[in-house]
Amino acid sequence: MKTIDQLLAEGVTGQRVFVRADLNVPLDGTTITDDGRIRAVQPTVAKLAEAGARVVVASHLGRPKGAPDPAFSLAPAAARLGELLGTDVAFATDTVGESARSVVTGLADGQVAVIENLRFNPGETSKDDAERGAFADELAALADVYVGDGFGAVHRKHASVYDLPARLPHAAGQLIATEVGVLKKLTEDVARPYVVVLGGAKVSDKLGVIDHLLEKADRILIGGGMAYTFLKAQGHEVGISLLQEDQIPAVKEYLTRAEAKGVEFVLPVDVLVAPEFPDLKTKAPAHPTVVAADAIPADEEGLDIGPETRKLYASKLADAATVFWNGPMGVFEHPDYAEGTKAVAQALVESPAFSVVGGGDSAAAVRILGFDEKAFGHISTGGGASLEYLEGKTLPGLAALED
Ligand code: 3PG
Repeated sequence: MKTIDQLLAEGVTGQRVFVRADLNVPLDGTTITDDGRIRAVQPTVAKLAEAGARVVVASHLGRPKGAPDPAFSLAPAAARLGELLGTDVAFATDTVGESARSVVTGLADGQVAVIENLRFNPGETSKDDAERGAFADELAALADVYVGDGFGAVHRKHASVYDLPARLPHAAGQLIATEVGVLKKLTEDVARPYVVVLGGAKVSDKLGVIDHLLEKADRILIGGGMAYTFLKAQGHEVGISLLQEDQIPAVKEYLTRAEAKGVEFVLPVDVLVAPEFPDLKTKAPAHPTVVAADAIPADEEGLDIGPETRKLYASKLADAATVFWNGPMGVFEHPDYAEGTKAVAQALVESPAFSVVGGGDSAAAVRILGFDEKAFGHISTGGGASLEYLEGKTLPGLAALED
């Protein structure tokens, strides 16, 4: 994989460099609620601009349906990138149309442009190789060189991630190099005890990684919505909590395998329950109650781990040498259900372990709940991407940068 420093040493002055970033940031209207992903790619863009490249930054945002949709415009992200760079950033209102062509043609050496959301074009995510390839051809016409730095999207076989690098000389950006370096530490010669904390809504999203981690981790702590499928698999009633009935056999198999392998699987011993999901807009008080994990009332749902579980999980993290954490412990967006996620973050802050927070919601949670990012070993910009890396899968966006 060619590095950005090798590319810079070859010289990029006057060249149009296409940077595939992941600017898929959470928005409230047009307000960015967590700009972590923009800050993470800024150094790569700055380095290229300082070296005199004409930088064309591209990304997806959300999941628009292959057509322009103002709710998913990258304009707010482009403006934020300009603020971080301390320079004007031009914005093209389409991906490969007249606006993009004229904005790119108008770039002087050292200037930066952002083109509109790649997923406004159906070719970006198409399953059809020819359709994706045709869009990649149009993107390739905008640039001389490709830099892959959208780590959060490297698990997607999309035109700008997978097909475009095959059409241009390419290199890996600084963010991808850092992310891959960190994830390698979790797969090769990991320092033990290696403790993994998994949360989030769905067990099905985590099956592959649990399967793989049963061979690697010493201890696995489970929280979030997925915990209820585990509790059910252990024979407990979970009321109206999130449940994936069809995953129960797989979960049972994991629990049995963990026991056979001596991997400690830790489930909540108590949970916060309420009759309904909280209002995340008004954040009106939710008045949850604490119940034992084996005594969830039939008409209530579990929305966070309880106080005993918080203590238990902190103690299970205290002696860790390496920690990987993906997924919140509860509905952290509501203050009444944020304590579980906070307790895990706090335990990591206090621990001397090398801790990796794996992207998406857990990374946003750490920042939104006010923790200092520097207190963690690494906060990944990729949720799905880091999980698939740990599963040992070949990631299309990394494979495409290899040759
Ligand atoms: C993410 O948010 O995990 C990445 O930006 C990828 O987005 P996607 O899941 O919509 O492909």
